[in-house]
Amino acid sequence: MIIKQAEFVISNTNIDKCPAPNMPEYAFIGRSNVGKSSLINMLTGRKKLAKISVKPGKTQLINHFIINENWYLVDLPGYGYAKASKTSKEKWQKFINRYIDNRENLVCLFVLIDSRLEPQKIDLEFIETLGKKQIPFVLVYTKTDKLNKINLSNNIEIFRNTMLEKWEELPKEFITSSEKVVGKDDILNYIDELNKFYYKKE
Ligand code: GTP
Ligand code: MG
Repeated sequence: MIIKQAEFVISNTNIDKCPAPNMPEYAFIGRSNVGKSSLINMLTGRKKLAKISVKPGKTQLINHFIINENWYLVDLPGYGYAKASKTSKEKWQKFINRYIDNRENLVCLFVLIDSRLEPQKIDLEFIETLGKKQIPFVLVYTKTDKLNKINLSNNIEIFRNTMLEKWEELPKEFITSSEKVVGKDDILNYIDELNKFYYKKE
């Protein structure tokens, strides 16, 4: 898929104020600082579309971007930011859950996993809630440029095995680096396929 157009639409914490749910939508979620905003910029080829920060907790709102006048990409705030206050964590949970549970045009959630780390409890717990709610999702390993091949495949293997303790089947997965532009075509082609399916169904 070629990205001809990518524009910011709106930011908010209220799903009632999100754009009308009349196009397929894909949201990026994961721990704070895992690289959600960077991945959105890498996929769209727009360096400054989503705001990036070296400090965790940069993205605080639900941010909608419209792509090719045809589908939405959504940048969500991260979870697990240690320095966030308890009330802001609770607020996060509330509005993110409302978004995930109610957004009718949300076709697939992209759950980002930092490829450098051993499986994190908070990621596994979040993935488990998606399973319980039967929300379609895929896994995206990020920052793979920071590892050599052997360490990367070891870490992915460990993550898969941990998943298999709870899941019968593994979800689809993507290996990415926003820094080195890895995984772009795979993700865009996958979205393209899902878009075709979405519009055929309508
Ligand atoms: P929050 O909005 O705070 O939840 O963070 P986020 O998940 O949107 O992360 P963001 O894209 O802001 O990136 C966080 C940091 O990781 C930045 O310093 C990025 O430059 C860096 N980063 C993101 N992706 C990559 C990558 O593929 N490779 C490397 N080396 N660094 C990356
Ligand atoms: Mg962000």
